[in-house]
Amino acid sequence: MAASRIAGTGRYLPARILTNDELAQRVATSDEWIRTRTGIRQRHIAAPEETTSDLALRASRAALAAARMSPADVDLIIVATATPDMIFPSTACILQDKLGVSGGAALDVGAVCSGFVYALALADKMVSTGAARNALVVGAEIYSRILDWNDRGTCVLFGDGAGAVVVVPAERPGILTSHLHADGSHRGILCVPGQVHDGRITGTPFLHMDGGAVFKFAVKVLADVAQEALAAAGMTAGEVDWVIPHQANIRIMDATMKKLHLPHERLVVTVDMHGNTSAASIPMALDMAVRDGRIRPGQHVILLGVGGGFTWGSVLLRW
Ligand code: UT7
Repeated sequence: MAASRIAGTGRYLPARILTNDELAQRVATSDEWIRTRTGIRQRHIAAPEETTSDLALRASRAALAAARMSPADVDLIIVATATPDMIFPSTACILQDKLGVSGGAALDVGAVCSGFVYALALADKMVSTGAARNALVVGAEIYSRILDWNDRGTCVLFGDGAGAVVVVPAERPGILTSHLHADGSHRGILCVPGQVHDGRITGTPFLHMDGGAVFKFAVKVLADVAQEALAAAGMTAGEVDWVIPHQANIRIMDATMKKLHLPHERLVVTVDMHGNTSAASIPMALDMAVRDGRIRPGQHVILLGVGGGFTWGSVLLRW
C-alpha cells in the first residue's frame, strides 16, 4: 500500500457564541463593519475551564466514530495548534492520554493557520509509507486567550474550535498531492511575540497583525499553491469540486476563487459562523461539508492553508 485516505472527520465548537453586536458593546466596532470587511457574523468562545486538548478530544472522538475506529487503532497523533495547553508537554500527548491510549507517536505541529495542512501532509507520508498504521490529525485552537480584547483590529476576527480527521492506508489514493512552503522573513506581520523568560512573560503575549500585509500575502500564495497542486496532479481548476481555504476573511477566499476562475458556489464557507479559528478552520469546514452531504465520493477537494510564519500549503483529495 502506497497511499492514504481520510476515513472519518469530526469537529467541536464550544457552546458560547459571541456575536458582532456583543463585541460592539466592548470596542468601537459594528456588526456592519465586521460583516462587510470579513464576512464574520459570530464566533464560538471556549469556557474558562476548557483547554485546547478538551476541544481536540471532542473533535477526535467524532472523527474516530465516523471512521468506525477506536483510539487504540491510532498509532500517530498530530495536533496542529498555536494555542497549546501549556509550553510542554505537547497538546498531542495530553490528547493521547485523554483518549486513554499510549505507546504511539504524538506531536504538535506549529505552522499557525497552515498547521492542519502541514499536519495532514505529514500524516499522509507516514501512513502511506507504512511508518504509521493509522493517524489522528487535529487542528485545535483557543485564540480567545491570546487576543487583546481592547484591540478592535484583531479581537473581532478570531474564534475557538477544533476539527479532526483519521488517516488510514488505502489501495487507491485519497490524498493525491501535498505541497508545503514557508518564508520566515514575513514573520513580523502576524505573530504573538511573547516568551517565558526567568519565570516572567517578556515581549507581548497578544496577537499582533498587519492586516493589510496579511491580506495581500494570503491572496497571492493561496492561488499559487492551488495552481502548484493542480499542475502536479495533471488537473485543471475546473475539475475541482470543492475548495476549502483557511477561513480568515470571505474577501480573501473570494479573491482566491476569482484568480482560479472558479465560482463562489464551489467554496466551503464557515468563517461567517466560526470566525478565524486558525489551524481548526479547514478540518471544521471539511467536516461540515462531508456531514451535510456536499462532498460526495469521487469528488475532488482542495485544502489551502496560509498563516503566520509565513507558512502556506495545499492538500488535494479525491473523496
Ligand atoms: O489567519 C490569518 C489571520 N489574519 C487575516 O487573515 C487578516 C487579513 N486581513 C484582513 O482580513 C483585513 O485586512 C482586516 C479585516 C483586518 C481589515 O480590513 P481592511 O479592509 O484591510 O481595513 P483597514 O485595515 O484598511 O482599516 C480600515 C479602517 C481603519 O480606520 P481608518 O484608519 O481608515 O480611519 C481601521 O482603524 O477600519 C478601522 N478598523 C475598524 N473599524 C471598525 C479596524 N478594525 C475595525 C473594527 N471595527 N473592528
